[in-house]
Amino acid sequence: MTDDASAPRLSRRFALSSLAAFGAAGISGGARADEPAKSTPPQAPDRTRKSEPNSSHPEPADQPGVTAHPVIKTQSDVLYRPLIHFSPTTGFMNDPNGLIFDGTHYHLYYQYDPFAPYAGHVHWGHAISTDMLHWEDQPIAIDETKDGEAFTGCTVLDVKNTSGLFDTDKGGMAAIYTRATPHKQTQYLAISKDNGQSFTEYAHNPVLDIGSNSFRDPKILFHKPTNQWVMVIAKSRLHQIAFYASIDLIHWTHLSDFGPSGLFGVDYECPNLLEIPVEGGGSRWVLFVSVNPGGPTGGSITQYFIGDFDGSRFTPGDTVIGLTDFAKDAYALQLYDNMPNGEAVAIAWLGNWQYCQELPTHSWRGAMTLPRTLALRHDAAGWLRLAQKPRGVEALRGAEIAFPTRRIAAGSSTQATLPLGGALELVMSVTVDERPHDLPLGDKGRTGRFVIVFGNEQGESLTIGFDAFSGQLWLDRNDLNGFSQPFFTGQFSTALNPDDRHFDIHLILDACTLEIFANGGLSVGTALIFPSNPLTFLRLEASGAGASIENLALYPLKKTMPRETAVSG
Ligand code: FRU
Repeated sequence: MTDDASAPRLSRRFALSSLAAFGAAGISGGARADEPAKSTPPQAPDRTRKSEPNSSHPEPADQPGVTAHPVIKTQSDVLYRPLIHFSPTTGFMNDPNGLIFDGTHYHLYYQYDPFAPYAGHVHWGHAISTDMLHWEDQPIAIDETKDGEAFTGCTVLDVKNTSGLFDTDKGGMAAIYTRATPHKQTQYLAISKDNGQSFTEYAHNPVLDIGSNSFRDPKILFHKPTNQWVMVIAKSRLHQIAFYASIDLIHWTHLSDFGPSGLFGVDYECPNLLEIPVEGGGSRWVLFVSVNPGGPTGGSITQYFIGDFDGSRFTPGDTVIGLTDFAKDAYALQLYDNMPNGEAVAIAWLGNWQYCQELPTHSWRGAMTLPRTLALRHDAAGWLRLAQKPRGVEALRGAEIAFPTRRIAAGSSTQATLPLGGALELVMSVTVDERPHDLPLGDKGRTGRFVIVFGNEQGESLTIGFDAFSGQLWLDRNDLNGFSQPFFTGQFSTALNPDDRHFDIHLILDACTLEIFANGGLSVGTALIFPSNPLTFLRLEASGAGASIENLALYPLKKTMPRETAVSG
């Protein structure tokens, strides 16, 4: 998002009801870290409102021993509400922020306008989880203040009290984020004495100000070899990522700049840096840079560079840029801090600035991707690439939906009925037959296609297809009728392995979200989808050549989110 004072502002009616729901916790105006803590404790959300989590489990679904019958609601707010992806109760959500594991809970803070389903008045919303799938809403953690909106940032555990701002040597959680006005973007430090529930701003903010209105989204890591905090931050319009160092989170020294590099676009945003394990041994540093607009598929995209980081400078290993996604709805990827055993886990915003404020939901807008474990892997040609895998969804699987087909002849198809309105996981691997010798000349034989269709009786379809003789995969959301907008383009594709008639795919379909992990997670496609009626069947088709299905497992996934959704459980 660029500074845009003209973003639609809201009906205060909404503001009042949302504020009532969240209570008055978080930073309050002039609270300062070196002043005595305010006596107002964070308040638990008021869950009495109809649209709040606790009222989203209609009776009798919650009563033991009662069989719940799925109730399909037709309102778009309910129909499109994900069951296992995080989405805000009401209002507008974009980037994940401050992702951290505190030893017990995973925290998910997020860019949040509690007042309206539009970007603006940015606060930090907050949720916690013990598995990154079942999220519990928490009071707003950081407010918009007279100093500006609370833009994207990170949290760290200052366990040695390097900042000196905590009362004990055990330290605590600190947040570093951008305070944004149309005229300036500066970096603020705040500390939490209640484990991330609320934050109090440091007395002498900003801790970093370069006199720019295009300087944002700090992400901090502790770099052990040089024993210092390192900040990566975007000089957005300069298309650069700046590196700063500090020993106390308060005083920051400029180290180096990276870029422009890779996609140019308009703004560089949300840089993230982490040393990520290479499968088979070793590790490399990966710098993620979100670019908006300017993605090859349109609008927002996250690119990455693989290289080395010596504590002051990032040096890419080559001139290659990777894209985290081949579709267009995974942006502002953020990495978890303090993960046990150095596990690399990311969550991205499942959206795109080109149309996020026009989506066909009304009381809420915005969703997060599932948590994804990241690794580096050598692809079939020997190049090191990012591999992504949804984290922990196996634990949500219900009884497998039978789909015993193992062979589909050329020109035929097979179909299964889907449970209404639920979240689904499909895991499959397929080998398309050898190119038939009697194919007409001139088409290079590219007629061996395997197509996965999620459809309904109203004629809507969502297709994912594999073109065996060119080794490419497509995703087509064009034939869904629930949303149309010039930038909401419908078709995306990615190259898998050339000359390989085999493909594997792992996909998760959850209300308005689709995440596809193909080729072991080397090709990932994330797309918002808006059917105007529920998708009721899954059809598998083979055209031009037959196909053998080596593996096919279809599971309903159990609802994790306390929201009113098309089905209750
Ligand atoms: C990325 C972004 C950030 C900014 C935030 C504002 O989506 O534009 O650069 O901090 O969103 O909500």
